[in-house]
Amino acid sequence: MATDAIAPLLTAEGWELLASMGQYREADSLKLNASLRKAGHSPELVAAVLTQSRLRTKAEAKFAEFAHQMLFTQAGLEQATRLSIAALHARRFAEAGVQHVADLGCGIGADSLALASMDLRVTSVEMDETTAACATINLMPFPTATVVQGLAEETDLTGVDGVWLDPARRTTSTSGTTRLFDPEAFSPPLSFVESLAARGLAVGVKMGPGIPHESIPAGCETQWVSVDGDVVEAALYFNTLARDGVVRAAAVIGPHGMAELTSPEAYDAANQDVAIGPVEGYLYEPDGAVIRAGLVADLARRLDGHLLDEHIAYICAPELVATPFARAYKVLEVKPFNVKALKAWVKANRIGVLDIKKRGMAVTPEELRRQLLTGSGKGPNKATLVLTRIGEDRVAIVVEPINLH
Ligand SMILES: C[S@@+](CC[C@H](N)C(=O)[O-])C[C@H]1O[C@@H](n2cnc3c(N)ncnc32)[C@H](O)[C@@H]1O
Repeated sequence: MATDAIAPLLTAEGWELLASMGQYREADSLKLNASLRKAGHSPELVAAVLTQSRLRTKAEAKFAEFAHQMLFTQAGLEQATRLSIAALHARRFAEAGVQHVADLGCGIGADSLALASMDLRVTSVEMDETTAACATINLMPFPTATVVQGLAEETDLTGVDGVWLDPARRTTSTSGTTRLFDPEAFSPPLSFVESLAARGLAVGVKMGPGIPHESIPAGCETQWVSVDGDVVEAALYFNTLARDGVVRAAAVIGPHGMAELTSPEAYDAANQDVAIGPVEGYLYEPDGAVIRAGLVADLARRLDGHLLDEHIAYICAPELVATPFARAYKVLEVKPFNVKALKAWVKANRIGVLDIKKRGMAVTPEELRRQLLTGSGKGPNKATLVLTRIGEDRVAIVVEPINLH
């Protein structure tokens, strides 16, 4: 039996037993397994219930309390869009006035769930039988959603005016799971997405945040999204889903809510209008979504700042500007990067806790930290170093983090 088989759960006994499970704790699983077996439940059912209970507990990170009403496979959960981001996708369709969305390759149905909860009609198509069964259960509370087991490419789109796709970006073989980077290797591939857009449908597709700008089809809007500093995706929106005057956007979601930086033009690496200047005042480390979207130069202008090196995403500005798009640091001192001199600095300043950030330098922060702190005695002070390259020079900038929120 596959470890994530769900058939034993789809019985009255299985469903009831699953509902009775509390928070999953790995340490209790052997004991629980034995006691459920002793109570007369079959080994298949006990294994399925324990697996599902473990997945539901893990799924709280993406689905909060809804996780405990849902069914998952291991891969389905790993690939699922977290609910807050699925809501962002769904809002696009709702705001564009789309009525009926086909979610082609719906997985366990997280994006479909968000679409259906906005009262849109949803046809959710999934080729894998177990995953489609999970989606069917997960979408049961929504009368406007239908799950179909089948292939995206063979789906009849009559009556559909919007399509959402979240293509599988990995392959699983006997040697494990491999992440794919070529959009044509995704399932379905990007060319299929483009063919749907060419039909005039409102199409949205989730891609990995590392999608090269040159792979992005012309005429769509791309929105890179980060959550608490992690870039989670780049979504491409076509036709009515693309906003007027927005070709690239960085949506930064954090404790402040969501903030967006946008540009009306496609990224052109050779044509970046950016000022270069000295280390001074405040140093800003742009959010990953801003970097991936190629909006670092735009951010520098907004902060009245400049880059230190045209190839490296550190910005300096004389004044402190509150921004959700970067972390800010006060510049305290600039030194040439020299391990011996830095070691002496650590010792003289009685530094015991050292945070090291770097860009454009082949240094392993953990290793360097160990090197710098070894033999200095465990001092009571804390410091932050930013290592970077400015042209040919390697520098260490002593900074103090600033909490902008
Ligand atoms: C990344 S997951 C989708 C996750 C989903 N958006 C969610 O949030 O739960 C991609 C899914 O597409 C399915 N899939 C891949 N190629 C497909 C195809 N050609 N037709 C139908 N489903 C496909 C895979 O089985 C997988 O479950």
